[in-house]
Amino acid sequence: MWTDEELNELNREIYRRKSVRSYKSEELPVGVKERILDAAKNKAVPLNQCACVFKLLNEADVEKPFGGAPHFLATYTEQGMANEDEALNAAFLMQEMSLYLSDAGIGSCWLGMAKAKKDFMEITEEGKKMQFCKMMAIGYGSQEIYRDNLNQFNRKAISAISNLKGLDSLLEAAGLAPSAVNQQAWFWSGEPSEMSAGMPKRLRLFSGNANILMNSFLKPLQTLDSGIALAHLWIAANKEKKFKGFLDENGVKPPKKGLRYIKTLQLM
Ligand SMILES: Cc1cc2nc3c(=O)[nH]c(=O)nc-3n(C[C@H](O)[C@H](O)[C@H](O)COP(=O)(O)O)c2cc1C
Repeated sequence: MWTDEELNELNREIYRRKSVRSYKSEELPVGVKERILDAAKNKAVPLNQCACVFKLLNEADVEKPFGGAPHFLATYTEQGMANEDEALNAAFLMQEMSLYLSDAGIGSCWLGMAKAKKDFMEITEEGKKMQFCKMMAIGYGSQEIYRDNLNQFNRKAISAISNLKGLDSLLEAAGLAPSAVNQQAWFWSGEPSEMSAGMPKRLRLFSGNANILMNSFLKPLQTLDSGIALAHLWIAANKEKKFKGFLDENGVKPPKKGLRYIKTLQLM
């Protein structure tokens, strides 16, 4: 588990990180690679109980090189992208790692469609077969890896991604999350009865808005985007000492057509 200080560092990275698409060929030193895998295994906090394992792949281990990146940080789960809870959890953990890397001066870029080579699509971990889920390119940037200010983020206004009042600092952190093709197809809503009585105690994440033709392509990516946005929100809520827990609620009605319910974050 991250210490409070480390969580504050992750939080800081939310406001300056960017996707890095050009890398130095220089490999990360062995000690750094060990620290990354140790943080992924022992510090990153999961969203749910699904098993998720991290592996560092080299350029030769993946189907297509990306921006000269020397390494790829990959997640493996029991069913890979076929299981939504596993993918959500893998994305949540991976985004913590992306922010951790950013704090260490290491750039990263999520790769929505990229695959590992056949030999690395399935691994055996402690006797159990695990399937490739998703990966990020990582390495030292040959471009700037930070933004100077918030204006450099190309993001929707908070009012476009939520109908909540009084939670702007948390929703800003969630809205700065990276998403596939920057689609930002998330929407945050609350318990209607709470909303009229002041600050909602439940933040419900909905995802969607893909049209039917695009849905089979976009839906898995939106699952990842949801896990990533939940990670940002969770980190910001921890920073503000407001995080209480995650909930899976039944029968939640979406606030708008075309949205589907993903998860609830409970605030203190
Ligand atoms: C699930 C996911 C998949 C992505 N896939 C790619 C990709 O294949 N290639 C790429 O260049 N960027 C990819 N990105 C990066 C997004 O394009 C980027 O996050 C978005 O445009 C916002 O920019 P920023 O990350 O610099 O804030 C992906 C991001 C996410 C979250």
